[in-house]
Amino acid sequence: MCGIIGITRAPVGDGSGRSDVLEVLLEGLGRLEYRGYDSAGIALVGPDASDGLWRARAANGTRSLKDLTKRAEDAPELSSAGIGHTRWATHGGPTEENAHPHVDCSAGLALVHNGIIENHVELADELVAAGHRLRSETDTEVLAHLIEVAVSDHPEIGLVGAVRAALGRVRGAFSLAVVCSDEPDLIVAARRVSPLLMGVTGDSAFLASDIPAILGLTRDFFVLEDDQMAELRPGSLRVTNFEGEEIDPQRITVDWDLEAARKDGYDDFMSKEMHEQPKAVADTLLDRLLPDGTLSLDEMHITNAELRAVNKVFIVACGSSYHAGLMAKYSIEHWARIPVEIDIASEFIYRDPVLDPTTLVIGVSQSGETADTRIAMEEARRQGAKVLVITNVVDSSMARGSDAVLYTRAGPEIGVAATKTHLAQITALEILALYLAQARQALSPHDARVLFEQMGVLPDKVALALERSADVEAVAATYRDSPSFMFLGRQVGYPVALEGALKLKELSYLRAEGFPAGELKHGPIALVEPGTVVIGVATRTPIWEKMMSNITEVKSRGATVVLVANDGDEETARQADAVLWVPETEYLFAPIIDVVPMQLFAYHLARLHGLDVDRPRNLAKVVTVE
Ligand code: F6R
Repeated sequence: MCGIIGITRAPVGDGSGRSDVLEVLLEGLGRLEYRGYDSAGIALVGPDASDGLWRARAANGTRSLKDLTKRAEDAPELSSAGIGHTRWATHGGPTEENAHPHVDCSAGLALVHNGIIENHVELADELVAAGHRLRSETDTEVLAHLIEVAVSDHPEIGLVGAVRAALGRVRGAFSLAVVCSDEPDLIVAARRVSPLLMGVTGDSAFLASDIPAILGLTRDFFVLEDDQMAELRPGSLRVTNFEGEEIDPQRITVDWDLEAARKDGYDDFMSKEMHEQPKAVADTLLDRLLPDGTLSLDEMHITNAELRAVNKVFIVACGSSYHAGLMAKYSIEHWARIPVEIDIASEFIYRDPVLDPTTLVIGVSQSGETADTRIAMEEARRQGAKVLVITNVVDSSMARGSDAVLYTRAGPEIGVAATKTHLAQITALEILALYLAQARQALSPHDARVLFEQMGVLPDKVALALERSADVEAVAATYRDSPSFMFLGRQVGYPVALEGALKLKELSYLRAEGFPAGELKHGPIALVEPGTVVIGVATRTPIWEKMMSNITEVKSRGATVVLVANDGDEETARQADAVLWVPETEYLFAPIIDVVPMQLFAYHLARLHGLDVDRPRNLAKVVTVE
């Protein structure tokens, strides 16, 4: 999740020849900071080939753009084209070396990229063996060198041909923009999966990953589709497919203001971020599921021998991250056959846990800064356990203070309530569960392959669940005046129920409690009276029948029942007053999908109550105190 901008513009015809390429880039980057702020950078070329390429980068967290603007005081006054980037680190820490734009060996061409190059390790090995000097830890830099190779092998193909040739070598997702001092008024762009929009006005052509960056320049945009390339020159745009055949690009006009554009037209960040969940899941899977059907988590730097030596897994986290851990407990125990304990971080710290070097302690934290979880990880390391952190923030305190890190790739989350980071956490934990099973040979290669394939279609299923937002809103409207809600689930449905209750109380300030449905008769059923609204997770699992018996128990006491059920499951629907439909999947992956209607329900109910879903009262996005 990074931001990209680029512009090529003829020098101003007032005799001064001055161009405002730099100003447009800096302003656009300011509007892209919500996409990531680990670093910011720009590269400028032209107006003559002999002017060479000028580049500046800064990596200073939320001050990156300020620092970059200061450095840009040294930029050449004249330039014909430029590209800029704000980064949310995924491969390589948030350092200046890793900041975009990246350049080739001669620093004559520069490139900005959003996405993930899955085969970057093998390409980097090949480039280094051929004498290239790679200066960063990013997956992106290989692209700059591949383009350099293509140009030097066949100078006649120019920058456009070289980018096309380079992209023929890569697997993964990308939107990118390239400038080169030899062709100083040209920007070459390409897209696969990650979005890119373009505009042309008068003597300019420009592009961006997000509308806000260039909304000041136009309201008419051309959309670059998957596997298309674009050539932008002052006042002109040419779009082709990867075979070089010209294409008429799709055109859209927006009437949003800047704030709406930052939210991609959604009413709020929470809604935008919920709709980014298919991508967050897909990106978290990228380059971890290899084409040969195995899993690779080499980035953790834990050997299979070390994983085989693990006798116990201890998951520690807070809030939604704790729920993600609870969901994964079932998968790790079932597939990898390792006992899993799980605890809330603030409890773990003071309970004198029994750990040793054969314990793998997994800290789960989207921010990587939560004080309770960070202190828990420090305690685990002090006791000699191996500490793995799952986080969304590269180089966060917890990432730095652990033995190993597995990054989720949800991009920055602005809404206070965790949504896309939560789904990315569950995805990462499920990958880890299968990886542990693979390392310990607890799963047959056939079973593993079937499961990996099912993981691959999870983003589409999450997207389907999100498409039912209006149906969920209608159910929320029916129960908007209920003063309290009871959430029930069993097995993997239990943490889904806990997450549903947490989301509802955070956003709508209503009493909402989650219980394991089997525990009802040991106390909570006393709360049920005619009209009590019970939301049950009743998707198909091996213990669906037991869950339905518990639903019968609450119904017979007069409860109104809303059930999360699999598409087409009329048997479940018959027991419900209202149904929240979701696609079916392997039951251990089901939380990734079943949580979606829970988020939507809480979201719509809060909005029906007129509440601010992005900034719920009393809550902070990052909790750095105990
Ligand atoms: C819920 C929510 C919180 C966080 C919790 C942990 O919507 O956002 O419950 O999950 O504060 O935060 P991280 O994951 O940053 O450690």
